[in-house]
Amino acid sequence: MAQEGQLSADSLAVLEQLVPVAAKARRVFVFTGAGVSAESGIPTFRDAQTGLWAKYDPVMLASIDGFRKDPANVWKWYDERRQTMSRCQPNPGHHAITDWQGLLKGLDGRLDLATQNIDDLHRIAGTEELIELHGNIWEVRPLGSEFQEAFRLMDCPLSEHPPRHIDGSTLRPNVVWFGEMLDEAVLNHAFQCAMKADLALSIGTSSLVYPAAALPFVAREHGATLVEINPERTELTAAADYVLQEPSALALPALVAGIRRICG
Ligand code: OAD
Repeated sequence: MAQEGQLSADSLAVLEQLVPVAAKARRVFVFTGAGVSAESGIPTFRDAQTGLWAKYDPVMLASIDGFRKDPANVWKWYDERRQTMSRCQPNPGHHAITDWQGLLKGLDGRLDLATQNIDDLHRIAGTEELIELHGNIWEVRPLGSEFQEAFRLMDCPLSEHPPRHIDGSTLRPNVVWFGEMLDEAVLNHAFQCAMKADLALSIGTSSLVYPAAALPFVAREHGATLVEINPERTELTAAADYVLQEPSALALPALVAGIRRICG
């Protein structure tokens, strides 16, 4: 469990104000990005030195054109990421969200979590009814098919690149690539949850990739108090009511411990 003492004096002052507000909220919307998994050992996309897009070409590895040109190369990269992720565990930030969801359930409240992450760590941490906006790296679907045809393929490493369906057709990762639409039903559900929230948190995301990045703004427009947790400032920071400039594995357990002290 992270120690509140490790937080900066500024963050402790923000928490003192935020905890009583958060403890009153019964409808919470959480929106997460790659930063929430950074402390589990999964690289983010845009961090200058360690981010994936500093090392790899998203056009080749995260687009349908790149996949059609060289499916084996794209799958080699996804297989490597699957192997890395299979060795990673949820961190105290993931667990704190699950803990808060359980607490709210017992209070006739609700916490909805929409993530841009494809790594499964929120699910492994036990968060229920997870909204996966950008898909899941452990799922595949036949090339050219719809999201609804996705299924889990847990082989790790894969025996061939690309993996094939039983009918011999090429399988693709069930993730959203650049230029592709998100699953409309999933996205609409996320917007509904954001609009109903009285408290919304944006955690570990650069807030640059739309339409997902619109969710916290929409929550705020519909009356939610908005919190950002991120060690860096982002496009969202100026719109947030409370900003914790901290790693999420440190700030989230401290926030949820404070809420538990009030709500039991
Ligand atoms: P980014 O890599 O764009 O942003 C990661 C954010 O996490 C940055 O704002 C960091 O400051 C922050 N961060 C780093 N370490 C952190 C920590 N320990 N705790 C909290 N925050 C931390 O990742 P995303 O915003 O998730 O899309 O990127 C959005 C989408 O762009 C991804 O879902 C992916 C990518 O292209 C698709 O694959 C469709």
